[in-house]
Amino acid sequence: MKKFLVLVLAALMVAGLAVTVQAGEGDPIKVGVCIYKFDDNFMTLYRQELQTYLESKGAVVTVVDGKGDQAEQTNQINSFIAEGVDVLIVNLVQSSAADAIIPLVQAANIPTVLINREPFVDDPSQWDKVWDKVCYVGADARQSGTFQGQIIADLPDKGDVNGNGVVDYVMIIGDPENVDAQYRTEFSIKALTDAGITVNELFAQRGDWDQAKGQELAATALAQFGDQVDVIFCNNDGMALGALQSIKAAGRTVGKDIYLVGVDALPEVVQLVEADEFTGTVLNDHVGQSHKAADVALEVAGGTTPERIYTVDYVKVTK
Ligand code: GAL
Repeated sequence: MKKFLVLVLAALMVAGLAVTVQAGEGDPIKVGVCIYKFDDNFMTLYRQELQTYLESKGAVVTVVDGKGDQAEQTNQINSFIAEGVDVLIVNLVQSSAADAIIPLVQAANIPTVLINREPFVDDPSQWDKVWDKVCYVGADARQSGTFQGQIIADLPDKGDVNGNGVVDYVMIIGDPENVDAQYRTEFSIKALTDAGITVNELFAQRGDWDQAKGQELAATALAQFGDQVDVIFCNNDGMALGALQSIKAAGRTVGKDIYLVGVDALPEVVQLVEADEFTGTVLNDHVGQSHKAADVALEVAGGTTPERIYTVDYVKVTK
């Protein structure tokens, strides 16, 4: 009797397995989404839009928080693989982890769309060596930096608010492992020097995209350099919102005796640009990027081979 039961159970399990394996065509596509951390202003807008859009296309979506820890995210990717998702969308904690993650998803045969943190930018030939079911959807960070610099260069005084003949600036940097931080730092200043403007870096430190750190660093820089500071460049709006608090606390006024630029065009920052409390920002198009990532993910899940890289344009935002 016992033996019979075991046999019946085994048969049921095999049948169950067969049902799952045969599941195909009509079934919703299962998408696993890994975000580097939930506690990030821009990536919060991005992930919410991504989930809503994927669900509107009939996909079943699970979004997980990497909490800024690559080991944790790698575990999450392994869990999604074990679960058998059809496709992964991954915002790496560390861009350099692509070297380890790509072989992992390839071995499991799960197509993967990398978003937001571009791997291999320094050596694009690396792309030729990776599995053709992996691609990147993002934006060219050089463009965002250039736009930030142009916003300052286009001001009537070209950013030299204290009129000493030099644009003395503070640079509040994101996570320096991330190419967005590297390129925004470099290209914002390049746009000034390309416009023939003389620049002087007073202070440059990492704020890891974080508002509280942005506030702290701007306070330190303003305490140290006072009226010498013409411009505070922030690699993102989150840190610039923090810097704005310190600018006000120091009794300074954006547009009158100091300039402030960020990147992302968070809704609250767009309002501040409108209200003359921010010199400008650059739209990091989370809607365009998340929709592109979702469309590509659903296509590769259906068997299409993607292009290597898809980029969405940044847009300059001034009053
Ligand atoms: C950037 C964005 C930052 C931050 C970062 C995370 O593109 O401007 O605010 O979200 O991505 O990697």
